[in-house]
Amino acid sequence: MKMRYLRLFLVFTIALAVLAIGVSIAQQKEPAEIVIKDPAFGALKKSPVKFSHEKHFKDYNIACAECHHNYVKGKNVWKKGDPVKKCSECHKVAAAEKNSLSYCIRTYPKGKAPGLKCAFHMNCTGCHKDLKKKDPTKYAKIPTTCAKCHPAKK
Ligand code: HEC
Ligand code: HEC
Ligand code: HEC
Ligand code: HEC
Repeated sequence: MKMRYLRLFLVFTIALAVLAIGVSIAQQKEPAEIVIKDPAFGALKKSPVKFSHEKHFKDYNIACAECHHNYVKGKNVWKKGDPVKKCSECHKVAAAEKNSLSYCIRTYPKGKAPGLKCAFHMNCTGCHKDLKKKDPTKYAKIPTTCAKCHPAKK
């Protein structure tokens, strides 16, 4: 008799655990810090990039949709709560891509999805350079040079 209750209890506990895991996957948590080193690049030429994800949307007040998107007919329909895919799921590594932002801007006019390296540089370096141009005093320290994002390997 007792054994049956124990079994029932176990079944419920397992069911609850499975449910909890399901919910936690459905509600993707936004990480505070991300070390960006996408395996799609293979062996990295530069060091991984430490990215203060949470500071960007909390302290610097940048909207999620500045960085996360899902384009339907050229319009970004991504909204907070929607699943977030890795950039590399849509932006594939393009071997010919140069490192400079000017190369990326020239090669990928609006409406053309950049390769993975340009996707990062256009998003990250693009915003940083724009802000620095607008307010050089306020943004004197914003990272715009290679080593500020890719510190020299030790
Ligand atoms: C504002 C930050 C930022 C700046 C400035 C920047 N990068 Fe990057 N870069 C990134 C990020 C983020 C990635 C994706 C990193 C990853 O997945 O490993 C990346 C990727 C790369 C990659 C491909 C991955 C690898 O290591 O092989 C190369 C090469 C690279 N950057 C070189 C440069 C060079 C050269 C400069 C200066 C002209 C530069 N970056 C400036 C943020 C930056
Ligand atoms: C300044 C750019 C930027 C802003 C602003 C930003 N994110 Fe992100 N977020 C990223 C990058 C870059 C990644 C890593 C993508 C990758 O690994 O390919 C990421 C990853 C994520 C992930 C995925 C984590 C995982 O486990 O895979 C979630 C969820 C997320 N962001 C949610 C948000 C939400 C919600 C907001 C707004 C409150 C936001 N982000 C604002 C750039 C940003
Ligand atoms: C679901 C697929 C998808 C994901 C995930 C995605 N992108 Fe894109 N991205 C696109 C498409 C498609 C375009 C071209 C859209 C257009 O301009 O009409 C684009 C355009 C861009 C551009 C060009 C300028 C702009 O904003 O339109 C940049 C930069 C960019 N993506 C960076 C990123 C970064 C960084 C991430 C990860 C945080 C990311 N993308 C994730 C599909 C994606
Ligand atoms: C829409 C604008 C915007 C985008 C996109 C953006 N940043 Fe920033 N970033 C900022 C601002 C604003 C600051 C704060 C500068 C200051 O106050 O000096 C900053 C600061 C930083 C810093 C230095 C301070 C810190 O918080 O660590 C790093 C490193 C950095 N960003 C990396 C990145 C990387 C990597 C990406 C792309 C994945 C990125 N940023 C995308 C606006 C942006």
